[in-house]
Amino acid sequence: MAKLGSLIFISKLVLLLNFAVTTLANDPNDFQAFYYIQQWLPSYCNQKGTPCCYPPTGKPKANFAIYGLWPYTSDGSSIQNCDGSSFDVGPLKPIEKMLQTEWPSFTCPQIGRKFWLHEWNKHGTCSKSVLDETSYFHTALNLKNKINIFQALAKAKIQPNNQFYSLESINTAITRATGFRPSIFCNHDAQGNSQIWQVIHCVDKSGVKLTNCSSTPKNQGGCSSTIKFPSYN
Ligand SMILES: *[C@@H]1O[C@H](CO)[C@@H](O)[C@H](O)[C@H]1NC(C)=O
Repeated sequence: MAKLGSLIFISKLVLLLNFAVTTLANDPNDFQAFYYIQQWLPSYCNQKGTPCCYPPTGKPKANFAIYGLWPYTSDGSSIQNCDGSSFDVGPLKPIEKMLQTEWPSFTCPQIGRKFWLHEWNKHGTCSKSVLDETSYFHTALNLKNKINIFQALAKAKIQPNNQFYSLESINTAITRATGFRPSIFCNHDAQGNSQIWQVIHCVDKSGVKLTNCSSTPKNQGGCSSTIKFPSYN
């Protein structure tokens, strides 16, 4: 009986600790740095049962697109849904054209500006202590200029041609061009091939200085040792 009692006590303690860790993990006061995530949109469109809609302004030219700029805590988990601020498109007007080109979404139905709204509300609000809404979006756009993945891969003759490349060659090409080692996440095309989907770099709290990541965002897909680079058609 005493044994059962202590078992129950221990499992309650574990629950309590889990709760404490979860709460701590989402603490904007423990904001350490950013994950800067870019995505290869053809790898979104060619998944099984995933229709793809281009923005009203048309299909952007072949390039990696911004996916998000996510503040994260000391244990590497992203901080989400911090209260307070609500999205105001006003400050985005002057950069809306750039956002359409660099930060498009291909979801159906096309969500347009709502993608940016979603990213700001879910992630941006948690780094408000450092970047207000306007600076948050400017920072993401500036990083895009600094980390040109498409060019880095092209330099190493790695092109979007539905061919397979070793994960290591992709990692090396990006590291060589940027000076920082990325994390690569993969998903699967409709035929089940592992393919390049997201490329993650880490950026310091100011949103300016790149760093090598000491952790990666949770719950993302691993890659095979050889992965497909789908064409942009
Ligand atoms: C980041 O990692 C790469 C590859 O491991 C290394 O070549 C580079 O020097 C590192 N950069 C810094 C600033 O530590």
